[in-house]
Amino acid sequence: MTGVTARVPAKLNLQLAVGPPRADGYHDLVTVFHAVSLFDQVTVEPAGRDGVTVTGEGANRVPAGQDNLALRAVSALRAAVRDRGAGPGGVHVTIAKRIPVAAGLAGGSADAAAALVACNELWATGLTQQQLSGIAATVGSDVAFALLGGTAVGRGRGERLTPALAPATQYHWVLAFADGQLSTPAVYAALDRLRAAQQGAQGGRGALGGKASPQEQGGSGGDRPPEVTLDAALMSALRSGDASRVGPRLSNDLQPAAVSLFPALRKTLTAGLELGALGALVAGSGPTCVFLAANAERALELAVSLSGAGVCRSVARVSGPAPGAAVVGPDR
Ligand code: C5P
Repeated sequence: MTGVTARVPAKLNLQLAVGPPRADGYHDLVTVFHAVSLFDQVTVEPAGRDGVTVTGEGANRVPAGQDNLALRAVSALRAAVRDRGAGPGGVHVTIAKRIPVAAGLAGGSADAAAALVACNELWATGLTQQQLSGIAATVGSDVAFALLGGTAVGRGRGERLTPALAPATQYHWVLAFADGQLSTPAVYAALDRLRAAQQGAQGGRGALGGKASPQEQGGSGGDRPPEVTLDAALMSALRSGDASRVGPRLSNDLQPAAVSLFPALRKTLTAGLELGALGALVAGSGPTCVFLAANAERALELAVSLSGAGVCRSVARVSGPAPGAAVVGPDR
């Protein structure tokens, strides 16, 4: 076998509820992950030593050294199987990117997941899905979900996953890519600052502050409950397959922080809603904006109108749920 190629989807967060910072610097989350049909492709080939080549969308902004998440995933898998007598040598990783870099779509995590799946096949490690998922979680918070795909509830840092019911329904989304990037740690830090300022303004009331997710809006006195919770109404809407019920339930606690760092996003979100989207939100830590359409035709109309409105760099139409990282066959 000369090489193995895996394909891996981008992710959206249909709910992203963020708790206060933990002692390790991460934030406890409750999130509804949703994989969509925007795929990177990762090929691994045996080589004298590990290396990476990146082509496609934003390739020059992807780290090419050991900082590369796909290479980190290769090292983590090699370390995990070394004791088992498997013979993992060096690999060259080639990443063909379609998922924009630092866009809130977990492209780096996706590449790590694809590298794991491809090396797992190349080395015939015999690891179970669960073991692979455990290794994925050590590489990054979103890597385990990129392996799983579909729609799933994430807890902890986002790595503790429960697959959600998978209705036959496909949801149709329009992604509006921004002219710029946002750093995930910078957006979490901005959220902490916004919440601290809000808490100060409220005289210390409320543990979490920040933008209330829909289930918390309209509550008494603006205080939020101390725990982040799964939006049961969103889950029920998703199970119904009715996009018009899902749209109003989309929520992202990171959105005010992303907008504070990238104010142009406000205009993009407003434009999408005015153009008929059923719901709009910032993807993860941004700056990509996500719009839900009623069906494929509406998504096409929305994509055309949004690109005409000049409120983003480019648009893409995707659908979800999409399957997780999977081998697509030997490299030719
Ligand atoms: O796990 P990952 O490396 O993808 O996370 C990137 C950064 O995002 C972390 O270093 C942290 O600053 C932030 N983060 C967080 N809480 C999470 C996930 C990520 O604060 N649950």
